Amino acid sequence: MKFLWGAATSSHQIEGGNRHNDWWEWESQGNIEGGVRSGLAADHWNRFREDLRLASELGLNSYRFSIEWSRIEPEEGKWDDEAMSWYQELVTECERLGLLPMLTLHHFTSPQWLADKGGFTHPNSPKYFARFTERVIEKLGTRIPLWCTLNEPMVLAVGSYMGKFMPPAKYHPRNVSLASENLLKAHVLAYDLIHSKIRDRSGPWKDHPIRVGIAHNMLDFKPDRSWHPLELLLSQIFRRFYNRSWLDAIVGRKQHFGVRGLVPYGAQVKEALGRRTADFIGINYYTKAYIQWGPRDAAQERPAELPIGVQFARRKEKVSDLGWALHPQGLDQMIRFVSGYELPIYITENGIADREDKLRAEYLEAHLGVVQQARKNGVDLRGYYYWSLMDNFEWIKGFGPRFGLYHVNYETFERTATLSSQVYKKFIADDLQES
Ligand code: FCB
Repeated sequence: MKFLWGAATSSHQIEGGNRHNDWWEWESQGNIEGGVRSGLAADHWNRFREDLRLASELGLNSYRFSIEWSRIEPEEGKWDDEAMSWYQELVTECERLGLLPMLTLHHFTSPQWLADKGGFTHPNSPKYFARFTERVIEKLGTRIPLWCTLNEPMVLAVGSYMGKFMPPAKYHPRNVSLASENLLKAHVLAYDLIHSKIRDRSGPWKDHPIRVGIAHNMLDFKPDRSWHPLELLLSQIFRRFYNRSWLDAIVGRKQHFGVRGLVPYGAQVKEALGRRTADFIGINYYTKAYIQWGPRDAAQERPAELPIGVQFARRKEKVSDLGWALHPQGLDQMIRFVSGYELPIYITENGIADREDKLRAEYLEAHLGVVQQARKNGVDLRGYYYWSLMDNFEWIKGFGPRFGLYHVNYETFERTATLSSQVYKKFIADDLQES
């Protein structure tokens, strides 16, 4: 099997008109920077053919996208088959263009009806998710080789109940571990359903084994002051909690969804203990994080309730438009760490917010260099997905940050290739020619 060179997107960030999910509601309450709303996003719902053509023009051979649960099940137990057929069309188009589909079942957004019940803090949330998964399997299952059950479940739990950058944005540390438990249960149910229900296969990838995993956000944590014992300790704690806990959980080890004194631990999810529920590990890697103890004004991200600050760069470091340091060595670190789990690895996201497209080529070259080196070193790395195919709705930051290989004009929705996209294109062509 050839190495997969892809780009990643998510439903809510590009499709537009996802009015039945929790973000839509939260946006309408003025929670997004500048008071903007996702609205038509990148209008991908109407332009998906063009977008996939643009993906294939870069020479990509894979595409990672997500299915919007709130479109498929806008009301509890009511299924919208028309929406489902749109995703079937999307996959048909992928097949026609030779873009191996990696399907994400949950990428941050939940149907509003589930949010009303408390989202993933609700005890039945895993069952609801399983029911949705079954629906997707029924309609698309035979054609999809790669599945991410969840995108960044750690970010979702922390963002919703601690960092307050995702709905419902309520500071409630116990809900961080509670949501994590339910997300893990949901993941396990989906993992089993995908493997047990999909019997026949069809389409161009019918001989590709079905692989199920998660896309996991990882940060290269560092103490802000390397001599500071507490910051040193905290950065280790964050590595364990943020980087490691989900990986341990999906390979069947003891779960540690908690941090003593900060996030109360819940019970162990028995369904996940002692068994592996992932066939690969997806790494979403962007940058590093300096951990600061005590209120320091420089801290960019800091829940008011905590005396801990997180900073994504030091002054003088080269940074993205979001202030995230360019730090390719961190990707190398994460790959080394994850390879210890002895599962195939995909880089399911990696990218830079760079409105002027000034740093993206450098960012790409550096990170792709790390990927190639890891492959040479014998790491079982199977694919790389740049985030993102095109500019899109960057959650609480709105439309300001531009991550796209294609620039989107939000008035006309015209797509224009960035210069850096050509760097990626050339790189892929060279690589595929060699292999
Ligand atoms: C990741 C998310 C993705 C996108 C990038 C920039 O954490 O998975 O949706 O917002 O960050």
